[in-house]
Amino acid sequence: MGRQRVLSGVQPTGSLHLGNWLGAIRNWVELQHRHDAFFCVVDLHAITVPHDPALLARQTRQTAALYLACGIDPQRATVFVQSHVPAHSELCWLLNCITPLNWLERMIQFKEKAHKQGSQTSVGLLDYPVLMAADILLYNADLVPVGDDQKQHLELARNIAQQRLNGQFAAHGETVLNVPEPLIVPEGARVMSLTDGRKKMSKSDPNDNSRINLLDAPELVRKKIKRARTDAVAGLTFDDPERPEADNLLALYALLGVGSRAAAAEECGRMGWGQFKGLLGEVVVDALRPIQQRYGELMADPSTLDGVLRQGRQRAETVAQASLERVRTALGLTPRRQ
Ligand code: TYM
Repeated sequence: MGRQRVLSGVQPTGSLHLGNWLGAIRNWVELQHRHDAFFCVVDLHAITVPHDPALLARQTRQTAALYLACGIDPQRATVFVQSHVPAHSELCWLLNCITPLNWLERMIQFKEKAHKQGSQTSVGLLDYPVLMAADILLYNADLVPVGDDQKQHLELARNIAQQRLNGQFAAHGETVLNVPEPLIVPEGARVMSLTDGRKKMSKSDPNDNSRINLLDAPELVRKKIKRARTDAVAGLTFDDPERPEADNLLALYALLGVGSRAAAAEECGRMGWGQFKGLLGEVVVDALRPIQQRYGELMADPSTLDGVLRQGRQRAETVAQASLERVRTALGLTPRRQ
């Protein structure tokens, strides 16, 4: 039995934040040691909402550099840019044609984003989860490490693989492509906004104080934590539905500081907000310092990043092309080479 295959990606929109790191990338770093790992920067997903072309190009490189700065090792994992491997778009089209429209109309993220875009909502935004399914299925991924908010998209990818591709187009007893499983970390899968503990931390929140970006300077990190929403109760507690902010900040302290929820609750249970925020600020600054340092080094050396992405594209293309060919054959498209 070969190693299990893992695939995941982050959109290069806005800057990556603590949620992206704790919910996804930090877990990828662990997984790359035991799995055959593919991590892409999903730039084709980033253009499903209005975007600035110059900014997209810059953020695509920044996101790739952040993967490496967070500890993804290009000797172990394949790191690449989604649009560099055209098979993603091609498989997306093939899957579009076998996916019922109403499966997409049900997607919560589509409904939320379409509500914001109104009459400007693009076809691409509706199709976003099919492209995501293509990303995953192209690599025959066994596991997809994501945050909690991607569960529904993962379920869709599984349904497309199982019910449509394999269910309708595989020869008896065989599969066309693998059916993936989501991998969601028990802690950190849902980091909440600093300004509203009932909303998830998000790149698209117009208020930058709602999130800690991985590249925020130490002073800014301290300031954002100091300003984070609090309540009138003294002492930090987990799991009180009336105190989502306390739960969220204490969970961050557990994840980045003391390492366990029990230890965080024990240490901070009777602390005032002021003292706790000072402590949390330092823990976050310390956690981000090595990432920011490595990021600075990588951005100062563009040829290294270019080399990583070139090699990543080559490796990814080999795997993706083989899967695409299987799907083409299963759907009855004639072979390219006779
Ligand atoms: P994106 O770019 O919104 O987020 C990247 C990853 O970060 C996780 N995440 C969070 N985790 C915890 N707390 C939060 N507040 C938080 N916000 C975001 C997300 O769950 C995700 O794992 N559709 C995907 C990108 C994608 C993809 C894929 C992922 C495209 N193709 C194939 C996996 C496999 C997205 O928009 O993620």
